[in-house]
Amino acid sequence: MNSTGSRVAEASDAEAIAALSAELGYPADPKTTAARLSRILKDPSHHLLVAVQAPGEIAGWIHGFLTQLVESDYRVEIGGLIIGQRFQRRGLGTMLVRQLQQWGQSQGAVEVSVRCQIKRAEAHGFYQSLGFQLTKTQHVFRCRLRPIQD
Ligand SMILES: CC(C)(COP(=O)(O)OP(=O)(O)OC[C@H]1O[C@@H](n2cnc3c(N)ncnc32)[C@H](O)[C@@H]1OP(=O)(O)O)[C@@H](O)C(=O)NCCC(=O)NCCS
Repeated sequence: MNSTGSRVAEASDAEAIAALSAELGYPADPKTTAARLSRILKDPSHHLLVAVQAPGEIAGWIHGFLTQLVESDYRVEIGGLIIGQRFQRRGLGTMLVRQLQQWGQSQGAVEVSVRCQIKRAEAHGFYQSLGFQLTKTQHVFRCRLRPIQD
């Protein structure tokens, strides 16, 4: 862990990450989170950091991944960020975003992007305080895939 209280996530963080995810509004049991974490931690195009408060309590996490689209610059997309309620407004969110930006730079990315739900007004203020600019609003469409039958 570095002096600012963050480190790369480990498989054993699954339970704490799941609890914080539930707080963010994405309930997941630790087993499901552990399976996702295992895939993320193996993939060098992903970066998952946890903020740690003494004595070893995980106060928040950020997940970013590199993405190259045909129509846009090579970027880091923030997939998720949460600071537990009782740890908010202490600069931890700022610290994690700054560290993800540094990682992105070291990987050759030229911008950081985040999709933020319309209802998360506090997060909008947060990102704008860090110099992010609102570039568009959009609807998100999803389609569930059926498992392939043998
Ligand atoms: C948004 C979030 C990550 C901010 O983390 P944080 O550690 O509390 O933020 P920081 O302490 O680094 O705040 C930096 C600045 O952002 C702004 N900010 C942060 N929270 C804010 C809020 N609730 N309302 C308005 N501005 C806010 C302020 O300008 C703040 O500086 P200040 O405390 O000196 O006034 C955290 O509130 C959170 O996890 N929220 C719920 C989940 C969420 O919305 N995640 C983002 C989804 S993409």
